[in-house]
Formats: sequence, C-alpha cells, structure tokens
Amino acid sequence: MSDIAYVNGAFTPLVEARISILDRGFLFGDGVYEVAAVIDGKLVDNEAHIARLERSLRELRLDSPVPISRIVEIERELVARNGVAEGMVYLQVTRGAADRDFAFPEGVTPTLVAFAQKKNILASPAARTGVKVVTVPDMRWARRDIKSVALLAQVLAKQAAVEAGCQEAWMVDADGFVTEGSSSTAFIITKAGAIVTRPNSREILPGCTRRSVLALAEQDGLTIEERGFTVAEACEAAEAFLTSASNLVLPIVAIDGRSIGAGVPGDHATRLRAIYLDFARATSV
Ligand code: PDD
Repeated sequence: MSDIAYVNGAFTPLVEARISILDRGFLFGDGVYEVAAVIDGKLVDNEAHIARLERSLRELRLDSPVPISRIVEIERELVARNGVAEGMVYLQVTRGAADRDFAFPEGVTPTLVAFAQKKNILASPAARTGVKVVTVPDMRWARRDIKSVALLAQVLAKQAAVEAGCQEAWMVDADGFVTEGSSSTAFIITKAGAIVTRPNSREILPGCTRRSVLALAEQDGLTIEERGFTVAEACEAAEAFLTSASNLVLPIVAIDGRSIGAGVPGDHATRLRAIYLDFARATSV
C-alpha cells in the first residue's frame, strides 16, 4: 500500500503530493504545525494538540482553510488509509502561495498538508536504554510558544546532538538556564524527588505531553516545581527526562558526557513513562 497524504482538499499518494514553490511556508517559514502520536490506531492527547494549533494560528493571524473539526477528520482518515497502528500524524498550515512579498498577501487561501507515519513509540529501544543529551545555546526567536515551522535553530541543535553521539540537544538561554529540547520538553528530578521544569512562557513551547505528564505526576504524589534550572543543576540531579508527542516520556542518562544519577533510566522517569502510556491508551480517540 502506498502512503497517502492530504494536500489542500484532496487525499493523494505521498509521492505525488505537491505544493507551490511560492508557498510562504517554503519561502518564509510562515506557517504552523502539529504532531500527534498514534497508539492502537487512535490519536493521543489530540484535543490539546488541536487547541494549541488554534492558538498558533490565532497568534500569527492565519486562518485554517477548513473548519477545525474537519482537520480532526483528516487526521483520522490518514491514520486509517495508511494503516497506522502506532506512529504519528503531522499537519501543517501555511499562509499559502503568493508572489514573494514579506507582508501578508490578500485573498490567498492558506495551505493545509498532512501525513501519517508509522513509528515504534511503545517499545522504543531509547525507553530501555535512556537517551543522551548535549547542550547548545538557544538561538531561537522570541515567540517559541508558537509552534512555527521555522525550525532552523532546532535543526542545527539536533545535528549538534547527532554529531556528539547524542539523541537530543537541550537549548540553554543567555542566563545559563535550560529552555527545552530541540523537539521536546526538558525535566529534571531533584535528589529530594521533586520534578523541575521551566514554566510555560513565550520562551518555550507549551508541550501537550508536558501538561498531561505533570497532571499525572501530581496525582501520583510527586512534587512539581515549575522553575528554570541550569545545566550544572541538571548534572547534579537524581534523574532527567524529556517528553514529546513522538517520544512520549524518555529517560535521560547523560548530559554533555556526564552521567545523570546512576547513568541508567531512573525509577521516576520509568514510572512516569508507564503511567503516561496507560493514560494515552485510555484516553486516545
Ligand atoms: N515537537 N518543545 C519543542 C521545541 C518541540 O518541538 C516539541 C514537540 C515539544 C513537546 O511538545 P509536545 O509534547 O506537545 O509534543 C517541546 C514535535 C514532536 C516535533 O516537532 O516533532
């Protein structure tokens, strides 16, 4: 079965899916996106992803070309047509194709593209071994709360991670505090057992997985401290982990070559992953 994508109103084989070279997503990064996990053929935490999409669109004064309820139907149809039991759905809205001019074009229909991919997220080897991160300066713009497709700083950060033999990069602000991962939210767990993660603000993307994991951790009796932490504090922490739609919860075992805790996935992070998986399975639709 060939992969099926969605482009501006039509389902089409992925290999034939096309947009204009004048599309403002391509020329300016003038667009937003969302990624939702698929487990058991169902969308995980999708209400939160859709709510964030609506917010990103509003912040950039971009209109969805179809009603938001239709976007969810498109996501479901892609999961079904591509036979995705486990993986993710990606969707992107851009300001459409127009003569190249920085200011917003008039009377142009926004572009909507979406596709689905299979991926092992439940039995991911990284969940068993944990992942290593490298730190890099955070070079991004000042509205990181918008899930913009302008991801060049994150591309460079992830490449730095790969070249250092790591799986993720943690970006660090000018004051030495970790903002977040290149495509994930950053957490540490102190020796006293508190989960520490930066509060939502314009400096980070408000993670949908972050939101659910913090609620579940609180129900589980863990203390949560929403505050910044430095790389030095992270290196002294009992545990560290990351969250994202495509990786759920992953333990972190080293930062900049220094082992975290015992250098193996921590008990809290492992338990939070299990709790989140139960939640994801129970609430996916
Ligand atoms: N990235 N921070 C950044 C910069 C991200 O790009 C992501 C997600 C997150 C985690 O958000 P959530 O839990 O809602 O997925 C945090 C997606 C998965 C991506 O770009 O592929």
